Amino acid sequence: MIARTHQCGELSRSHVGQTVTLNGWVQGRRDHGNVIFIDLRDRQGITQIVFNPEISASAHQGAHILRSEFVAAVTGTVALRPEGSANPDLATGEIEVLVKDVEVLNEAKTPPFVIEDEAEVTEALRLKHRYLDLRRPKMQKLLTLRHEVTQKVRSYLNGQGFLEVETPMLTKSTPEGARDYLVPSRVNPGSFYALPQSPQLFKQILMVSGMDRYYQIARCFRDEDLRNDRQPEFTQIDLEMSFVDRDQVMGSMEQMLRLVFREAAGIALPAPFPRMTYVEAMGGYGSDKPDLRFGMPLLDMSGFAATSEFKVFKDAVAKGGIVKALIVKGGATMPRSRIDALGETAKGWGAKGLAWVKVAQGGQLESVIAKFLDGKQLLASAPDAKPGDLLLFGADKPKIVHDVLGRLRLLLGDELNLVDRQAWKPLWIVDFPLLEYDEEGKRYVALHHPFTSPMDEDLLRLETDPLSVRAKAYDLVLNGNELGGGSIRIHRRDVQSKVFDLLGIGKEEAAAKFGFLLEALEYGAPPHGGIAFGLDRLIMLLGRADSIRDVIAFPKTQRAQCPMTDAPSPVAQDQLKDLKIKLDLVD
Ligand code: AMO
Ligand code: AMP
Repeated sequence: MIARTHQCGELSRSHVGQTVTLNGWVQGRRDHGNVIFIDLRDRQGITQIVFNPEISASAHQGAHILRSEFVAAVTGTVALRPEGSANPDLATGEIEVLVKDVEVLNEAKTPPFVIEDEAEVTEALRLKHRYLDLRRPKMQKLLTLRHEVTQKVRSYLNGQGFLEVETPMLTKSTPEGARDYLVPSRVNPGSFYALPQSPQLFKQILMVSGMDRYYQIARCFRDEDLRNDRQPEFTQIDLEMSFVDRDQVMGSMEQMLRLVFREAAGIALPAPFPRMTYVEAMGGYGSDKPDLRFGMPLLDMSGFAATSEFKVFKDAVAKGGIVKALIVKGGATMPRSRIDALGETAKGWGAKGLAWVKVAQGGQLESVIAKFLDGKQLLASAPDAKPGDLLLFGADKPKIVHDVLGRLRLLLGDELNLVDRQAWKPLWIVDFPLLEYDEEGKRYVALHHPFTSPMDEDLLRLETDPLSVRAKAYDLVLNGNELGGGSIRIHRRDVQSKVFDLLGIGKEEAAAKFGFLLEALEYGAPPHGGIAFGLDRLIMLLGRADSIRDVIAFPKTQRAQCPMTDAPSPVAQDQLKDLKIKLDLVD
């Protein structure tokens, strides 16, 4: 093979006259009778190469067999393109290579889709032929971005005294709340490892070990329902620090993210990142991951509702519920059919209805419920509501109102084009409740995980009023996505036992599941805390990818399958026998 002297995106006017060799794939071939033009592509870019019989008859002859995705080495002279034929969209658009020699390094079958960013192709086919899909410039850019981000992250953390430590893949179930992927142990028949849902317990143990600061670009496994931002196997930027408080962890992470965004993508994030309490986020945006790229907060109208004549409103407040509203600016022009459809959507999310009011130009209310409402009072309670606006109301328990109006806010933000697509809005959510009550299981569950420290000032209420206890936890939200979450941990055995008691995790269960951590806490565990960011989500946002699958080289489908390798797949009887496994329950 003739070794390349340059890559395909490298040549410019300054190389004119030089003899160069390029290696790459044939992107496309245009036969102009006598002269053949080929776009040669590698990871770096595309160069136009020209086969002219007057320059080399043998090379021109050789070019006839070149087809899309053939692999070739070409040697020739760099020349300026003739007047008027430069391509300003291409980095190498000013030049072309006049070929003297060509060597076909490999042939290729006709690919099932063209290797271009705009190729019309289903995701199923892309994933089946992922090696071809990954040849597309867009995918190569995303994987390059991913590489750059992990390099920046590593370099920042290395500079801050973090040690990169690997933790086991074959381990015990970890308590992140999803289902585990299990791996049978042949040498211990009937026993199973769990693939880690996160390195949580190990990183805490590393702090007890005196490692001081740990990080890992860690693979995590969770058997849960998949969505556009969820994979069964994903990667965390995972870290833990000793002798720190919340502000130190958050401060350091802000620096890391600002550096990564600036250096990998040229984006300036604010300093410091704004913070919002969980209560403010839920109350104001109906979500613990508010998208601040547009306004339209939820407005509390419970005071107005309590004194109104509208039974739905009055009753909701009387029963201890709330009434909140979204003000849709200029929404009075929204047709009735659309408002009704929004009402049906709201019902699908658990609302009993979606009352609405339009404010007419004169300030009077237009609505089927207008006769029950005092217009002046309503406008006094909603000073931002102006003539031409539409108000949408939720009246119910806070949980339902917040959830429904929060989702409606996102839907309308998108539909009415309110979202500033160029904006980057990071946000810390702090002061999460430590626990929530699980109505189905009739028990308390940890909102983050059971090792999250309660706030010192709330410790006394742990037994008397557990739901009012706040946690030293923090989530990082970016443009409405949960990018990361972490906390200061419990480092005292007595507090940890109390929290386990509250969660209904008995002594035996605790010992069986996390005995090693509890024991470690008894040997001088330092105060510690950390965080984990979803690397895939970060790249998805930074690279403006459509789905998390676009930023993972070999992702799984929504059905947790890999169409390229056909995983998961049945295994031979012998393998099962070795593992002492019998498949009785499979349909
Ligand atoms: P948590 O469970 O919040 O915290 O996970 C941290 C971050 O990981 C990302 N993430 C996912 N990304 C893709 N697919 C998934 N299935 C998926 N699940 C989570 C999210 C999330 O914010 N051990 C704790 C961290 C800590 O307390 O330090 C943990 O795993 O971006
Ligand atoms: P009704 O009195 O049931 O005819 O409802 C009158 C209006 O109030 C309709 O627009 C309903 O969608 C709306 N509505 C009913 N229940 C609720 C509720 N819990 N929250 C908000 N709007 C409601």
